[in-house]
Amino acid sequence: MDPNETAIETRPNDDLTLVALTPADMAPAQAELLAWCDRKLLAVNAELADLETNLELATEHGWKHRTVEAALNRTKKRILYYEKIKTAVDAGYLIVPNFPIDVFAVRVKRARRRKASSTEWLARQLNDPYVAEAQLRGYRSRAAFKLIQLDERFHLLAPGHRVVDLGCAPGGWAQVAVERVGPGGAVVGIDLNPADPIPGATLLQGDFTDPATAGQIREALGGPADLVLSDMAAPATGHAATDHLRIVALAEDALAFAESTLAPCGAFIAKVFQGGAASDLLARLKKTFGEVRHAKPPSSRAESAETYVIAKGFRGGA
Ligand SMILES: C[S@@+](CC[C@H](N)C(=O)[O-])C[C@H]1O[C@@H](n2cnc3c(N)ncnc32)[C@H](O)[C@@H]1O
Repeated sequence: MDPNETAIETRPNDDLTLVALTPADMAPAQAELLAWCDRKLLAVNAELADLETNLELATEHGWKHRTVEAALNRTKKRILYYEKIKTAVDAGYLIVPNFPIDVFAVRVKRARRRKASSTEWLARQLNDPYVAEAQLRGYRSRAAFKLIQLDERFHLLAPGHRVVDLGCAPGGWAQVAVERVGPGGAVVGIDLNPADPIPGATLLQGDFTDPATAGQIREALGGPADLVLSDMAAPATGHAATDHLRIVALAEDALAFAESTLAPCGAFIAKVFQGGAASDLLARLKKTFGEVRHAKPPSSRAESAETYVIAKGFRGGA
């Protein structure tokens, strides 16, 4: 193999991307990775033992133990993941997949048959701490951290809240919302695409602007919402002006939905894009909410024009 070439092999039904490096790179990295896997397996197995004890205690006392069960399943998955890595490394692959970025910074070399943009994407995924952290914490998307960071700054989610998540797939925001509203709250998500179920959330498939779907969301919510989230992005057409109009229109539709669904003093978060004529949207937000702010959470990629508008203190509502 050309020394500058990196073969990328993806196995079907496998969540690992195998990166075979040149033999010179291989030996030290392989030993280091095996030792790293052993350390991780030791720690995760200890965590599993603790969780099993917690579950036993919870069962004995008749407590609800959905959260412990979920953590247990996530931990078991992590063990399988580390074991899979070990097996692949033993078999001669250096696999540094969508993964242990806390230890390895992965340099992805350019392969002749891979486009520069795919190489950049792969390098970014492999080295992105939020991708790794999302996998370790069982979140379905790195987007989860955007909501966590927005919530830490603006205090939007609280136990017992009713939350609507517009454009929820694959489900990172909905997972965070479920964790933070707790069993007394309600989380209803909707997306054009299907999303795997999330315990504690109702996930619907459809277009939220469709009146029938909007009705279903309100019914599943069981009362006015405390928070309406929109992380939606319209699929790009490639025509910048058209794309921009579609994004603004989507945020306006989300606001119209929020206005008809929020309880008094409720809040609204929507993804918007920097440098666009969204002044109508802002004017409307300022009229209907007591406080309107813009924020780009640290986990939102600097090169992305996305930013979020956060509106609190809804003036309407029944
Ligand atoms: C960036 S993703 C959301 C990621 C999500 N917040 C998470 O944490 O996993 C944006 C989603 O908006 C959805 N979307 C766009 N327009 C929509 C519409 N009119 N109705 C429902 N979902 C929509 C897309 O299908 C896409 O899955």
